[in-house]
Amino acid sequence: MKRYSDLAATPDSSGVRAQVGEQARRLAERLARVRRIVVVMSGKGGVGKSAVTANLAAACAAAGERVGAVDADINGPSLPLLLGARGRAIGRTPEGLAPAAAPCGVRLISTDLLVPADGAAVVWRAPTQADAWVWRGAAEASALREFLGDAVWGELDWLFLDLPPGADRIATVLGLLPERAAVLAVTAPAAVSVLSVGRALELSAAAGRRALGLVENFAAAACPRCGADLDPGGAGAVEGLALAAGVPVLGRVPYDPALRDACDAGTPLVLARPAAPAAQALLALAARLRERVPPGPAP
Ligand SMILES: Nc1ncnc2c1ncn2[C@@H]1O[C@H](COP(=O)(O)OP(=O)(O)OP(=O)(O)O)[C@@H](O)[C@H]1O
Ligand SMILES: [Mg+2]
Ligand SMILES: [Zn+2]
Repeated sequence: MKRYSDLAATPDSSGVRAQVGEQARRLAERLARVRRIVVVMSGKGGVGKSAVTANLAAACAAAGERVGAVDADINGPSLPLLLGARGRAIGRTPEGLAPAAAPCGVRLISTDLLVPADGAAVVWRAPTQADAWVWRGAAEASALREFLGDAVWGELDWLFLDLPPGADRIATVLGLLPERAAVLAVTAPAAVSVLSVGRALELSAAAGRRALGLVENFAAAACPRCGADLDPGGAGAVEGLALAAGVPVLGRVPYDPALRDACDAGTPLVLARPAAPAAQALLALAARLRERVPPGPAP
């Protein structure tokens, strides 16, 4: 089994401090060549972060823009599947990792494209089992730094980051990114989701980044067969959170079986069926981001 430690610096290796300083410098330099950075997070699992990220990235690429995507879900990567890029390898060049290209043109970094076999978990090498947890946090942070700073992105119009569920990676990721990076929080209408996303928004604010906005996913939809209202419940919960956190709701993506099917098929819905209700919502969200995410200086 492949060990990630050949990529990630081990926390106590000699010269690691200098190496991290050098990496931080390279990171700033490389991200300066990216016009817009968007972090998609939620704090809650399964609310559609990856589906939203994949479709936003594909929508921007289809508009002729240069798009990169980082699968920041180191242990549960899913962007390669959603973008139909499984099996496409990340290259290694003297300048750093060369992102894989998805069929839609999005350039992608993901542990899924580094780990050889299906089901092979990323293994963190630690001296004892007790060390493994601490080690894993440090190694994940190191992997993220490497994905961002050691990847040869070149000039990009957009860089999207798909975060894992839970709140523990939010501060790490935000700490690596320039202040202009926009945070997008995805939530489902249910109260349990809204609660976790509220906590994630607080963490983001504590890291000095007020989220750009919320995306309500699995929102109310019309039944594709009879047109009847499919109400997921939780009416008003997302608005309540938006009000309390002082952030706007930037998009509402309805529950749409076509989105689920497109995800499973590895073709972003915005490309496969742009007229589908969820695709319309995602395209509108991409347009709104183009208006609202402050672009960095043109490289
Ligand atoms: N609006 C929607 N309508 C129907 N199905 C959806 C919708 N949004 C997402 N899905 C489906 O729900 C499942 C979970 O979505 P996704 O993997 O994007 O969630 P996630 O928040 O990234 O999960 P995780 O926290 O595990 O990373 C996927 O099968 C996806 O296809
Ligand atoms: Mg995901
Ligand atoms: Zn019906």
